[in-house]
Amino acid sequence: MKKYLVIGNPIEHSLSPTLHNYWITQNKIKAIYDKKLINEKEIKNIISQIKTGHISGVNVTVPFKKSVIPYLEKLSSEANVSQSVNTIYLEDNKITGHNTDIAGFELSLRYHKYDVKDKKVLILGAGGVAPSIILGLKKMSASQIMLCNRTKSKAENLKKIYDYIDVVNWGDVPEFDMIVNATSVGLKKNEEIDINFQKSGPNKFYYDVIYNPRETMFLKKAKEQGNIAENGTMMFVYQAHQAFTIWHKTMPKIDEETLKLLTK
Ligand code: ATR
Repeated sequence: MKKYLVIGNPIEHSLSPTLHNYWITQNKIKAIYDKKLINEKEIKNIISQIKTGHISGVNVTVPFKKSVIPYLEKLSSEANVSQSVNTIYLEDNKITGHNTDIAGFELSLRYHKYDVKDKKVLILGAGGVAPSIILGLKKMSASQIMLCNRTKSKAENLKKIYDYIDVVNWGDVPEFDMIVNATSVGLKKNEEIDINFQKSGPNKFYYDVIYNPRETMFLKKAKEQGNIAENGTMMFVYQAHQAFTIWHKTMPKIDEETLKLLTK
């Protein structure tokens, strides 16, 4: 029986086990996928179990997507350019880190039929997921990628790596077509960013990387004001789909049943 894990802190909210175990059963694979709450000190030991074959694959979530990197022997180009790893496995006997969030974000926008080409996009947050959003938007040819973060220095650090982004002061609301919440605000119910984005007018595309809760205050207000609002469910599904395909060399189905699992 092969063993897979998602590691993070907190981890209760993760629906990765639900989704992966559903696909594992559907594809008649002999494996089990668990979640594990860990602290930083445990990373080394868990990753070493990939080398010995005790664990076949690991998904990584907040706040460890960067801190796992020193324990890996190889990075995919996506993991390297984003310095963010969410999927780990053994390849050519090397512990390999990959980032499936970039593709997950991109595929989710395709699913929502939103064309980013030539759009002005404002990203909120400069934490673990921000590089994946930046790289996804760049790949899809956004005309402008703006980023603001409560702690400005973190936004400026990202600009040192991705020099094509424009750093905006936290609290300023520039004109945008699309806005992405990449902060952790909203993970707790009724938590809200204290900025009025509606100043930018209606008919914008609001995207929240958070998928649980399904409707953050950010999205609720956006809808009320006549904007399109989508949560991070499809990004989550597609990043998992990519990880599953790499690990099991089988492409699982994304259908109504799959999506129903995540809305219970
Ligand atoms: P990390 O910062 O360790 O990478 P993360 O969960 O990936 O953790 O990122 C959290 C993001 O949410 C950060 O951009 C953080 O802003 P700061 O860099 O200023 O901490 C943002 N964030 C968290 N709580 C926030 C709040 N109450 N208001 C605004 N932004 C917040």
